[in-house]
Amino acid sequence: MLEDLSAHMLDIAENSVMAEGTEIRIEVLENREAGMLSFSVEDNGRGMSKEFLSKVTDPFTTTRTTRRVGMGLPFLKQSAELCGGGLDIVSEPGKGTKITASFIMGSIDRPPLGDIPATLMTLIMGSPGIHWIYRHKTGCGEFILDTDEIIEALDGDREMLRLPEVGLWLREHIKENLDEIQWEGTRTGISPDK
Ligand SMILES: Nc1ncnc2c1ncn2[C@@H]1O[C@H](COP(=O)(O)OP(=O)(O)OP(=O)(O)O)[C@@H](O)[C@H]1O
Ligand SMILES: [Mg+2]
Repeated sequence: MLEDLSAHMLDIAENSVMAEGTEIRIEVLENREAGMLSFSVEDNGRGMSKEFLSKVTDPFTTTRTTRRVGMGLPFLKQSAELCGGGLDIVSEPGKGTKITASFIMGSIDRPPLGDIPATLMTLIMGSPGIHWIYRHKTGCGEFILDTDEIIEALDGDREMLRLPEVGLWLREHIKENLDEIQWEGTRTGISPDK
């Protein structure tokens, strides 16, 4: 698939929002030594039964009522498998769901990260009531964004996360911090890394 990781992130995190999770944890781990990139979204939403889980990566499985096909998970699975990795889903009804996709980092089909700051901004501004935690780790460092900490800094008003100026600040903040933990060369655009 010609999708960025950030597009998958939006899809998969939106599933967690739809599942009425109150806490959603997104992680991207770039492990150069192992040559793997892993991406996960974990929520405490309604979860899925074993039976549903066994067919959830089939495009015709959806609980949407507006259309008959659900493509979020099948796309991510296809993309991960194309890159020598895979998709893993752990889910329990009433407890929550964790979706993990892994990719061989050097695979030519590996989706580029895409615009993660804009994606997170969209998710957070769209659902300010959710406790979002984003963690991104590379060999150069780690960045963690926790909306509870931001809300504390905003004097406890979650609705402020809907304000455009707060959203834009958030996007810049994420972008600066993600740039910090990118490898030299990637940052300057010299590296062939996508
Ligand atoms: N985190 C989750 N918690 C509970 N159910 C989930 C979760 N993620 C997916 N599902 C269930 O799996 C179904 C398929 O998900 P998928 O993302 O593949 O398609 P969709 O969300 O239905 O449609 P699309 O992503 O194309 O808009 C969903 O309709 C939902 O019932
Ligand atoms: Mg979906």
